[in-house]
Amino acid sequence: MENQELVVLAKKAMEQAYAPYSKFKVGAALLAKDGRVFLGCNVENASFGATICAERTAMTKAISEGVREFEKIAVVASSGDYAAPCGICRQVLYEFMPEGEVVLDSFTEGMKVMKLKELLPMGFRGEDIK
Ligand code: THU
Repeated sequence: MENQELVVLAKKAMEQAYAPYSKFKVGAALLAKDGRVFLGCNVENASFGATICAERTAMTKAISEGVREFEKIAVVASSGDYAAPCGICRQVLYEFMPEGEVVLDSFTEGMKVMKLKELLPMGFRGEDIK
């Protein structure tokens, strides 16, 4: 699937964002190696720390459906600026797609594609637990 198509799906996912506190809506579209796409949005909570980011929503949906291998994830935010995944999301994505790509989109500057390994150098994985 083309990056542009994945960005369109991420924008669609953003429409479902529940962000009454920050007003910062985020959408994610995660492409699995089998071609399936899992959408996610941020889900905030009155207890702010219980908030779940869009990327983790998408990944958790996929994992809970038995999918384990992924190619890339597109992420967009209502600000229109590039919205790079937060630290926790980088770590969660790294668990399942260390070789994966992150597609970011800015309304004014267009798409930017980065390797997850660029966003999380020396990422920690299960095999490091000895
Ligand atoms: N957020 C995401 O959904 N993804 C990120 O990677 C960064 C932050 C959400 C969490 C919260 O609902 C809002 O953006 C502001 O932090």
